[in-house]
Amino acid sequence: MADIIDPAVGDYLLTHCTPADDVLRDLAAETWAKLPGAAGMQVSHDEGALLTMLVRLTGAEYAVEVGTFTGYSSICIARGLRPGGRLLACDVSDEWTAMARDYWQRAGLTDRIELRIAPALDTLRALPAEPLIDFAFVDADKTGYPDYYDALVPRLRPGGLMVFDNVLRDGRVLDPRDESDRAVAGLNDRIVTDERVDSVMLPVRDGVTLIRKRG
Ligand SMILES: C[S@@+](CC[C@H](N)C(=O)[O-])C[C@H]1O[C@@H](n2cnc3c(N)ncnc32)[C@H](O)[C@@H]1O
Repeated sequence: MADIIDPAVGDYLLTHCTPADDVLRDLAAETWAKLPGAAGMQVSHDEGALLTMLVRLTGAEYAVEVGTFTGYSSICIARGLRPGGRLLACDVSDEWTAMARDYWQRAGLTDRIELRIAPALDTLRALPAEPLIDFAFVDADKTGYPDYYDALVPRLRPGGLMVFDNVLRDGRVLDPRDESDRAVAGLNDRIVTDERVDSVMLPVRDGVTLIRKRG
């Protein structure tokens, strides 16, 4: 594991953004208590705060999430949407997203979030081909990233924003070791030459790429 940021500085960052409320704190605690082997997949609170801020800044009404797990990032996204906004949450796990459903209810977000249990690529490809999506967050199987990108770009409205998580793969994009590393490294290279978008990669946790559609 490469620590991009000194762990002590990482802790400092966690305590210097808008604090988590009880819903997010309880969700993180329950995820770690019930799913200790998988809980590390959850976005950190500072990344969640970044998602809420980006959704608000883009004025998004329609968002898509690829990789919901127990719901932390989905709550952060849904809370940033304009009144009446909608989030389509994609995952393959009924078990993990059952916890997400509980917390959506507790957060008063049930009417804003639609969960689709299916391989996310099927869900994305079944969406209308028009550019209707304002905001997308991708945080699922890494080998799927190139396909998610290809499915999302045409469906993103001009000025819309996509956020891809784990784009540094603990630093292994410099020297890819497995299929997931290669898929992410290959996509990272492709994004910078894609004339449809502007992008910037941020050293937030395991790396986050912001991709804005031109137009
Ligand atoms: C890193 S976790 C997502 C964490 C989440 N963003 C959060 O903040 O808690 C990845 C999720 O992607 C889901 N996933 C894996 N492969 C998938 C696929 N082909 N389609 C949809 N979801 C998938 C997993 O079930 C898992 O819940």
